[in-house]
Amino acid sequence: MGDEIEKKEPIYTELISENDIKERVMELGREISDDYDDSDPVVLIGVLTGATIFQADLAREISLEKLEIDNIAISSYDGTQSSRIPRILKDLTHPIEGKHVIICEDIVDTGYSMAKLLEILMTRGALSVRICALLSKPERREIDIPIHYLGFEIPDKWVEGYGLDSDGKGRNRKNIVVVNF
Ligand code: IMP
Ligand code: MG
Repeated sequence: MGDEIEKKEPIYTELISENDIKERVMELGREISDDYDDSDPVVLIGVLTGATIFQADLAREISLEKLEIDNIAISSYDGTQSSRIPRILKDLTHPIEGKHVIICEDIVDTGYSMAKLLEILMTRGALSVRICALLSKPERREIDIPIHYLGFEIPDKWVEGYGLDSDGKGRNRKNIVVVNF
């Protein structure tokens, strides 16, 4: 339309293919299956909403009979800016006392969300708490946190797909792309 202001469309560039994600998730699942046994329950806690797709795929690559699945929601981002003061928006459904906890996160950026979540979950009587993150942006880290299981290190770019969003959209992509706004 002639006199409308032209809206710039974002440019998407593939960073990690569907197949590379699949292979890495299988490897992570094998690693986790090797590190734990069925003497105590293990709970895979997905951080809503970004980790849901990763969590669903990873859970099916973990061969532990006592694996449990739960979710937690914390606020961390408003649009694409880190608020640096995460709060619990939706708590876990079941207690974690006497269980091994693996926090399943889509991406560790500044590290504030995971630092806060670790701090909260450590007080609840879990046997152990580890972080499993699909992605990490090391250049952006402001708080040092231990990532026990990591899918991929990525550069300081905004990414979407495989659960990760840009303003709520793009989570259903099968691959991970860099978004150039
Ligand atoms: P942190 O507290 O800064 O580590 O925030 C991590 C959270 O920010 C992740 O769980 C994501 O929800 C979000 N996030 C950070 N970088 C990206 C990105 O490139 N794409 C989508 N979400 C991101
Ligand atoms: Mg998140």
